[in-house]
Amino acid sequence: MLTPAHIAAAIASKTKTKKKHFVAQKVKLFRASDPLLSVLMWGVNHSINELSHVQIPIMLMPDDFKAYSKIKVDNHLFNKENMPSHFKFKEYCPLVFRNLRERFGIDDQDFLNSLTRSAPLNSEAQGRSGARFHTSYDKRYVIKTISSEDVAEMHNILKKYHQFIVECHGNTLLPQFLGIYRLTVDGDETYMIVTRNVFSHRLSVYKKYDLKGSTVAREASDKEKAKELPTYKDNDFINDGQKIYIDGENKKMFLEKLRKDVEFLAQLKLMDYSLLVGIHDVERAEQEEVESEDNEAEEEGESDGGGIGTPPDSPSNTLDSTKPLSPGEFDPAIDVYAIKSNDSAPRKEVYFMAIIDILQHYDAKKKAAHAAKTVKHGAGAEISTVNPEQYSKRFHDFITTILS
Ligand SMILES: *[C@@H]1O[C@H](CO)[C@@H](O)[C@H](O)[C@H]1NC(C)=O
Ligand SMILES: *[C@@H]1O[C@H](CO)[C@@H](O)[C@H](O)[C@H]1NC(C)=O
Repeated sequence: MLTPAHIAAAIASKTKTKKKHFVAQKVKLFRASDPLLSVLMWGVNHSINELSHVQIPIMLMPDDFKAYSKIKVDNHLFNKENMPSHFKFKEYCPLVFRNLRERFGIDDQDFLNSLTRSAPLNSEAQGRSGARFHTSYDKRYVIKTISSEDVAEMHNILKKYHQFIVECHGNTLLPQFLGIYRLTVDGDETYMIVTRNVFSHRLSVYKKYDLKGSTVAREASDKEKAKELPTYKDNDFINDGQKIYIDGENKKMFLEKLRKDVEFLAQLKLMDYSLLVGIHDVERAEQEEVESEDNEAEEEGESDGGGIGTPPDSPSNTLDSTKPLSPGEFDPAIDVYAIKSNDSAPRKEVYFMAIIDILQHYDAKKKAAHAAKTVKHGAGAEISTVNPEQYSKRFHDFITTILS
């Protein structure tokens, strides 16, 4: 058990080894363009610090799955340009999520650093439309705005989800849920969930797919295709003749996880989830890195090294002072979803594949579909024929075929 003095000492010693220009000013204030993000940073700092004084229990109790911690801040005047002066921050099931972070191999101080050293970055949507996405500045975590229904669903499944994570030793394609928060600013409540980024914090993805195993209305719109990194869908995957080249051993491990994961989702009556697929092209990334290094050299002699596709002033490399990785290499403890292409692949690639958007419950969906029935061409046309069991089979079968 760490005492506060230990932690302070650990932070101080870490700080000293960091590049001075960066830590010295940024940790004093939580500065983000969006006040909500400042509040999130403040809240995560508060929560992780509080938790560091709470002993780790031998086991979680049923009440931990209903618990929350709440704090109300008034007249937060000293940082007025960056922070609202009144806000509330609520964390759901703090002990459960601390336990989950540990099971996913995430140290709380590292988690805190990732979320607070610099403001989270805006990110293009990785899933269902309407939600707002950010990544932590070092791209290790995704922060997503969710609905109160999602929070309720999360509470419904949390105990079973936790049990599942225990049993599979954190070895899963399911989202790694790391914290859920409610932020209240100006009377508006915003719910946020933090998960591990499916994609790499350093290997850029040049193509991505959201696959459900359905071919009904499953292609990217023209509007989507015009984006810098469009989310392509099932029909695009088939029409592109896209292949995922992975070797037999990786395939076996992947399919084993997939089978267990979708079985679990079907048991919980969850459906409509997707497999998010991202493809990194090793040579292409090398090429881009050379080009961006040339640009940087012109701008100024700042040599941070590494870091593909990060803006020149991004501090994202300061945390990874350890061994530089060669092109296409990754740290499997951080990029947990990464799989290398096999020897017969036409290009050297790295694939990132994981299940996302799991919080849609069958009953909620049926209710919504029923309400939508009066609307012509309602989105629920297909629902009556597909239940969570069938959804999981169709999903599983489709993903299996694209891997062979
Ligand atoms: C982070 O939390 C610690 C402990 O509660 C506090 O001393 C520190 O001032 C906080 N940092 C900021 C920038 O608010
Ligand atoms: C590589 O992946 C492709 C596509 O899945 C597969 O057809 C091929 O047999 C694999 N080759 C090796 C050497 O594993």
